[in-house]
Amino acid sequence: MKGIILAGGTGSRLFPITQAVCKQLMPIYDKPMIYYPLSTLMQAGIQEILIITTPEDQPKFKSLLLDGSQWGVQLEYAVQEKPCGLADAFIVGEDFIGSDSVAMILGDNIFYGADLAEQLQTAVADFTGGMGFAVEVENPERYGIYEFDEEMQVLSIEEKPAKPKSHYANSGLYFFDNRVPRIAKAVTPSQRGEIEITSVLDAYLQMGELKVSLFGDVWLDTGTIDSLVDANDFVRVMQNRTGKIIASPELTAYQQGFIDREQLEKLARPLEKSGYGKYLDVR
Ligand code: G1P
Repeated sequence: MKGIILAGGTGSRLFPITQAVCKQLMPIYDKPMIYYPLSTLMQAGIQEILIITTPEDQPKFKSLLLDGSQWGVQLEYAVQEKPCGLADAFIVGEDFIGSDSVAMILGDNIFYGADLAEQLQTAVADFTGGMGFAVEVENPERYGIYEFDEEMQVLSIEEKPAKPKSHYANSGLYFFDNRVPRIAKAVTPSQRGEIEITSVLDAYLQMGELKVSLFGDVWLDTGTIDSLVDANDFVRVMQNRTGKIIASPELTAYQQGFIDREQLEKLARPLEKSGYGKYLDVR
């Protein structure tokens, strides 16, 4: 399975903060936001990852993340000229996906759970067709919403419904087989003029090939100022209480066996002076 991180968009819900700074490069406590979705894909065991950004921001992502070889992964870059919906990522990434399946994650999403790597790897191993991850939320009007039957089989999905049928939100992580670029191209843009991810999920549902997994741990999106501050607080509190870093590509690479201890030590050296660096000492 390959991975895509969608890190485009204007970040207009965070203006003026994101007028000159790209949202997905802003800090969430001690590391850039994009480290979180990147580490999530790496925890799923994914090593080939495409990063989709605006044309202006691409050089900044490249100077931060390089080609990924330092973390034992292969990073590629593509641009999305204009934000025209989440599912456009599959069209931009069509050649990259090729004959593989793909996991797409939103560049501003944080998934946290003590056994996240295990959960994700099980999901990757079990998946066919399309797969979404549902999370219970208090404000369902803001999200794509899944409706389930008593056996938790998905019945419907609606984008930001005025009358939500449940509190199960469509989070920002999706797995699809290699038909997804073709399906995304066939989607009719919504009223807001976007190729909605929910339309692609619905297409798989109509084919009887959509599975939705309940994610019972912590999911944070950082799209508004309050959710951004909450995410900072969450990471700060969790790391300081547990002494364990959340979403370090260096440590994830080591834990996944993508790099060895000597490589990790080499990566840790220039980071020694920051609080971040102290978490990379695995002796
Ligand atoms: C998008 C999706 C929505 C999903 C949400 C998760 O909405 O369209 O289905 O629930 O991301 O953050 P957006 O925030 O782009 O409006």
